[in-house]
Amino acid sequence: MPKPKKRSTVNITKEDQKTNKKNKTSNICTKISPVHDFNDEEIKKIRLNLVDWYQLHKRELPWRRLATDPNINKRSYSVWVSEVMLQQTQVSTVIDYYNKWIKKWPTLEDLAKASLEEVNEMWSGLGYYSRGRRLQEGAKKVVEELGGEMPKNAEDLLNQLPGVGRYTAGAIASIAYNQVTGLVDGNVIRVLSRLRLIGADSTNQTCMDVYWHHANKLVDVDKPGDFNQGLMELGATVCTPKTPNCSVCPLKKYCKAYAQVEVHKADNASKLLSDVPRNGKTKMTEVPDIECLVEDCSLCFDKTETWDPSLGVMNYPRKGKKKAAREERTVVCIVSRTDSDNNLEYLITQRPQKGLLAGLWEFPSQLITDESCDITDTLNTKYGIVLSADCKRLKVGEVVHIFSHIHQTYVVESITLTSDDVKDETNEDGVKWVSKADFLQSAISTAMKKVFKAYEKSCDSSTSCNKGLKRKRDISQDTADPKKQTSLNSFFIKK
Ligand code: ADE
Repeated sequence: MPKPKKRSTVNITKEDQKTNKKNKTSNICTKISPVHDFNDEEIKKIRLNLVDWYQLHKRELPWRRLATDPNINKRSYSVWVSEVMLQQTQVSTVIDYYNKWIKKWPTLEDLAKASLEEVNEMWSGLGYYSRGRRLQEGAKKVVEELGGEMPKNAEDLLNQLPGVGRYTAGAIASIAYNQVTGLVDGNVIRVLSRLRLIGADSTNQTCMDVYWHHANKLVDVDKPGDFNQGLMELGATVCTPKTPNCSVCPLKKYCKAYAQVEVHKADNASKLLSDVPRNGKTKMTEVPDIECLVEDCSLCFDKTETWDPSLGVMNYPRKGKKKAAREERTVVCIVSRTDSDNNLEYLITQRPQKGLLAGLWEFPSQLITDESCDITDTLNTKYGIVLSADCKRLKVGEVVHIFSHIHQTYVVESITLTSDDVKDETNEDGVKWVSKADFLQSAISTAMKKVFKAYEKSCDSSTSCNKGLKRKRDISQDTADPKKQTSLNSFFIKK
């Protein structure tokens, strides 16, 4: 049979091509073939079904309460905080962080007054720390430069607030202001890819343009906030990456990935039951519009890939190969001492204000290179510590932590200082001695918490690790005043 001709296509506009980088647009001109597009009837039905489903099935989440507050600034602030936290982090983790954040800084004005140290402490364990910093910078800008008024539409939010990208701007504008504007996040990408058989690398610019085009076209004109949250909620709870539950999906009637699976099933069943020869082929064409007829379509699977029947709807979306994470090994040294009351304290130091984990606190650390793997010199030059020949030095073990682009192995050791170990009297900024409770309350990364856990575990199984020493009282009973941190000058128990 001759191959049908290419069918008419829809153009993507410049508006759909706005990238996350403010005011920039991509150069790609994309055409969407009908199989990957929505018609007016489908749009109407998808809006109705999704908004109804969302209202019945949405999870009770703390930020959803404030998002309906009569005060517009309260609404936009709560959506802003929650959406920034939800980028890269699961809802179950965010709930606790969000509640604590709102308790400490109930308004934009409160957040504008916060220090970076406080923000980092609050963000400790959430990862991607620049998110918290930029949130605070944004609040400061609103208070100091915009008269305390948040920008009132997606475009101004995007252009005027640091750290607010296209997604966050769309979320604040639609949820807090009811502006009819779409949004695209990982959940939306998955739902749209399945609805419209978008099997090309979902991270490429053409696909991103099409996702934004669809999101803006689909969004419900009366309930844009509910629609957008519904789309994300559906992706998070029903149309999930690995365990999609299509039987309860309110959009299954409009889902082409689901239709493909149904056709495949029916085809297999008829192959078994009927004696009509089918040439061993899956007859996708029995249901219209689940096969793309455009040659070299930039939204279909790459030529080298095919639809895998064992994956079903999970054939969509697909991601290109990620660049392998860089391997790094870092020696981490947990230096402890006892103060004059025999309380145990640990030496921590602050990372530079730029780069990975900017401004967070950590145990003295040093990247392992071909030239160096011993931290003794650094302890000496940076912290003035000269170890005695028989200092208490132990290997703790290795702790692996995966950052988005670094596969980090921490080679952990511990040093328990005694009065035989020498140190000079320097008192540097960015270096302090803390109790365990203070350490856990500090702005530290999850990786350092893991390191400390490994150290404590090794102490439990070792007899030589500070056994019999008093641990400082818990922070909740203590004043957590950072000014009361012991300085390096009081390093040793005075004899
Ligand atoms: N994921 C990120 N933001 C969300 C929201 N507002 N609702 C549901 N899932 C989300």
